[in-house]
Amino acid sequence: MNSFVDIPAMVAACRAACGKVYLVGAGPGDPDLLTLRAARLLAHADVVVYDHLVGPGVLELIGADVERVYVGKERSRHSVPQEGINTMLVRLAREGRSVVRLKGGDPFVFGRGGEELQVLAAEGVPFEVVPGITAACGVSSYAGIPLTHRDHAQSCTFVTGHLKDGSCNLDWPALARPRQTVVIYMGLSGLPDICAQLVANGLPADWPAAVVANGTLESQQVVCATLATLAAAVAREGLASPCLTIVGEVVKLRDELVWRAEADGARTTATTSNNTAQV
Ligand SMILES: C[S@@+](CC[C@H](N)C(=O)[O-])C[C@H]1O[C@@H](n2cnc3c(N)ncnc32)[C@H](O)[C@@H]1O
Repeated sequence: MNSFVDIPAMVAACRAACGKVYLVGAGPGDPDLLTLRAARLLAHADVVVYDHLVGPGVLELIGADVERVYVGKERSRHSVPQEGINTMLVRLAREGRSVVRLKGGDPFVFGRGGEELQVLAAEGVPFEVVPGITAACGVSSYAGIPLTHRDHAQSCTFVTGHLKDGSCNLDWPALARPRQTVVIYMGLSGLPDICAQLVANGLPADWPAAVVANGTLESQQVVCATLATLAAAVAREGLASPCLTIVGEVVKLRDELVWRAEADGARTTATTSNNTAQV
């Protein structure tokens, strides 16, 4: 009897029987910012497993016959724990289904996309990645704030203001250098501390900074201020998550480059030093 087992052929046969997981970026909210590939997959998948920050307009593109599974993931409130999501993706694919794992922005930018794919890879589940427009790019564009500009910023750094253990332990001296733009994801609750640290590490108190809430959506709100005044201005305007903070001289360019009117009730505030003006 031939005891030889053709492992590669066996794995290939398993894979053929298995479904596939598509890790898809939904962009920052406006459905028109979705890639064509993402839109096609949403229309034709068997099941879409989606997060809290996926815009409502994007969800409307999910085909009528496609099953939807909401797994949440608001800050400190996960409707399904990460391990549960991982297990679910493996199970759905092993049922032979075509699974879209839909995440806000780009799945590889502060989106745990890499962590979920590591589990799929370890379990031998086939997968594919469809990038999305990350919040830094989409939100800054819709706010009229270019992330780089030859006169103001030669580099741009993306950081998260919220670490796994709830702390915000960043390389402040590196972030406090001029001629760069710093974009802070998940930085709303730590905003007073972030602004204070940047000043303590060398940036001027009147350095331009902005917070954009609900960027790219009709409800977008933009507060432009300085490091000294930003946290109070954001609190005064009542901005709520999701919010992106942009720090750097490029923020001043919004005065010239703003192209999209904020909807009624979604006001824009331009604050310079102690002076607040509605735009
Ligand atoms: C868990 S991170 C996910 C980032 C996402 N993977 C991306 O590439 O944009 C969530 C954070 O992204 C930012 N964010 C996402 N969408 C946003 C939006 N429409 N407006 C403002 N900030 C947004 C906020 O800082 C929010 O707290």
